[in-house]
Amino acid sequence: SPSDPDLVERARAAKEKLGNKVFVLGHHYQRDEVIQFADVTGDSFKLARDAAARPEAEYIVFCGVHFMAESADILTSDDQKVVLPDLAAGCSMADMATAEQVAECWDVLTEAGIAEQVVPVSYMNSSADIKAFTGKHGGTICTSSNAKRALDWAFEQGEKVLFLPDQHLGRNTAVRDMGMSLEDCVLYNPHKPNGGLTADELRAAKMILWRGHCSVHGRFSLDSVNDVRERIPGVNVLVHPECRHEVVAAADYVGSTEYIIKALEAAPAGSKWAIGTELNLVRRLANRFAPEGKEIVFLDKTVCFCSTMNRIDLPHLVWALESLAEGNLVNRIEVDKETEAFAKLALERMLALP
Ligand code: 13P
Ligand code: SF4
Repeated sequence: SPSDPDLVERARAAKEKLGNKVFVLGHHYQRDEVIQFADVTGDSFKLARDAAARPEAEYIVFCGVHFMAESADILTSDDQKVVLPDLAAGCSMADMATAEQVAECWDVLTEAGIAEQVVPVSYMNSSADIKAFTGKHGGTICTSSNAKRALDWAFEQGEKVLFLPDQHLGRNTAVRDMGMSLEDCVLYNPHKPNGGLTADELRAAKMILWRGHCSVHGRFSLDSVNDVRERIPGVNVLVHPECRHEVVAAADYVGSTEYIIKALEAAPAGSKWAIGTELNLVRRLANRFAPEGKEIVFLDKTVCFCSTMNRIDLPHLVWALESLAEGNLVNRIEVDKETEAFAKLALERMLALP
């Protein structure tokens, strides 16, 4: 739906008043009405890098979800303030691994006698606490665009990886990109004693996958892939690696949001694509590339937005920008110093990956 012209004008005016003091970052899953005000857009890796590259901006307004704003705070200087226009914009996957659960898991690995061999690799989609745990135990962060490089690095440091919190990204990367088998992976369930695993199972595993997932990408199924191939002969199926393993295995291409955009930019006129990722992005791409004769459809028949990404809407963005323009710092995301130090270690290991 078109944005309210009054709100568009207010956002524009507040941004103009703030000038270089504000830098607006927008994740690809944001609504069109919000993304039009982003100074840069990107996947979570690109946004983390771009946030760190703006030392002159006093305010970083992050149009995305909580863990992304935390990461931006960790990577920017102390006098830069990161603002999340709606504090309720969380991520259900990130919430699936708490600091207590992960500490308990580490105890289980220690009991099994394998903790020294384990390198934690945590997906960007995790809280600052989990990133700090990762840094403290010699591990790295990864995103969907560098998960293979992160795992290559981790297996140079140790024999096993504890992958948090997205089981699918962990499994898909291990099996699809690293040549491991499904049997090399075990699933650690934080709601069961000892993760639901025996010490022998833990000792035999190469990849210990945390039992977390994205509910948005979890909606795509093998049926969605088979249906679309039947409906649209010659279609290319392109999905995000947060999708389930059988979906990724049946797809033609797999990659991060930034990868998806690049693939469609490079696609020839007349090609047909079914995309398995969040709907704001897929609709935007379908509209953008339709004039070039590229047919782009959503992989599933039902709609599936990320409801927390969608919480950042134009009214919230206008409120945040106008507040900042009037000198009121609202909705600041600030990670405490100790957490920040260890989390930064893990994030910097990611940024230094070859
Ligand atoms: P990207 O890193 O591909 O942008 O993914 C972020 C995300 O939250 C996907 O659900
Ligand atoms: Fe989290 Fe999934 Fe939304 Fe990404 S799409 S922010 S992983 S809930």
